Amino acid sequence: MKKSKLKVFLVIFFVILLALGAGFGIPFGIKCAKRNELVGLGYSREVADYILTNDYYEKFTEIGYNETLNHILLQSDYKTEYLDSYTQISYVDSEDFLALTNAFLDKNYSTDDINFIFKRFEHEDIVKLSERDYFAELQKYYSIDYAKLRDLDRYVSYKEKTNKDYEQTVLDVSLNLDLGEYEADYENTEFSVDMLVNKNFSVSKDFEPKDLVDAGNGFYLNKEAYEAFTEMQSAARSEGLEIEINSAYRSVSEQEAIMNNQCRTYGDDYCKSHVATPGFSEHHTGLALDIKSKHSAVFEHSKEFNWVVEHAADYGFILRYPKDKENITRYSYEAWHFRYLGKDLAKKVTDSGLSYEEYYVKNIEK
Ligand code: DAL
Ligand code: ZN
Repeated sequence: MKKSKLKVFLVIFFVILLALGAGFGIPFGIKCAKRNELVGLGYSREVADYILTNDYYEKFTEIGYNETLNHILLQSDYKTEYLDSYTQISYVDSEDFLALTNAFLDKNYSTDDINFIFKRFEHEDIVKLSERDYFAELQKYYSIDYAKLRDLDRYVSYKEKTNKDYEQTVLDVSLNLDLGEYEADYENTEFSVDMLVNKNFSVSKDFEPKDLVDAGNGFYLNKEAYEAFTEMQSAARSEGLEIEINSAYRSVSEQEAIMNNQCRTYGDDYCKSHVATPGFSEHHTGLALDIKSKHSAVFEHSKEFNWVVEHAADYGFILRYPKDKENITRYSYEAWHFRYLGKDLAKKVTDSGLSYEEYYVKNIEK
């Protein structure tokens, strides 16, 4: 080969080499730079590669870093058509976050609703909700913090019937006022000082009251309640007032005897509004007592009554069936029936001005 030909050949060879180098090297360099940019934003390398492979670079640099996308983009159930919606949903660290998110998006829930759902409900309820039809009024009911998912259908039908506002609907249903007396029976199986017993909350057959002590004259009371009562009794005595126990713990069969007797004597209407059906009386807990004045036949008219109403909470008691709450407690006013709750809780309930039912559903019931 002549020298000049060799020169030409070498020049052509290097030009081709350069072209090849530029053809592969420049795009490779650009890809690296883009990937570094995405990683710099906060995306993982794998997600950054996915973004580049699928030509999402422009879109993602526009979006910036998004925690939700970083977590779900590589999952098999990621749906391209929901990309924009995903960016509006705050990431929740849960195995089925994407499946649930998709289920809600499929049902046409807004991203605002979905964020609300993840914040507001426990996982078990979120799953249940994802299996129900779309419910447009979700936030209206569930921005009330004690509203329960299990009661959703009851809220809807009660609201339809009564036309009450959302707040009142949730409260009434929580109080079981959408049901007849004794229609819902939530059983208390275990003793606790704050337990609720009423026409919808009974004590189970094997329920055991705790720490019953002899309170004299054949009465028994929970030890803590009895000590609180004697403390209150001494304080009243120091002001020249005499209060005594008129009824305390009752077994189910004792309640039955009382009910039969009262129904016979005063008739069914009186009986229903003053005497609990056996199994549904607070007296079964050992935490309730009826108080009388030693010197006055009608407690409500005695000086002792006024004193007890004023001081009961200081000793851990509340007047359990007040006059203005008859439609909620579903018992007629009872001036004599007090319930021990402990000092802290009794004060809170008294200060709230609520019946124990209302206080319980708003603050205690899970
Ligand atoms: N007197 C109340 C309501 C009871 O029987 O337990
Ligand atoms: Zn009573």
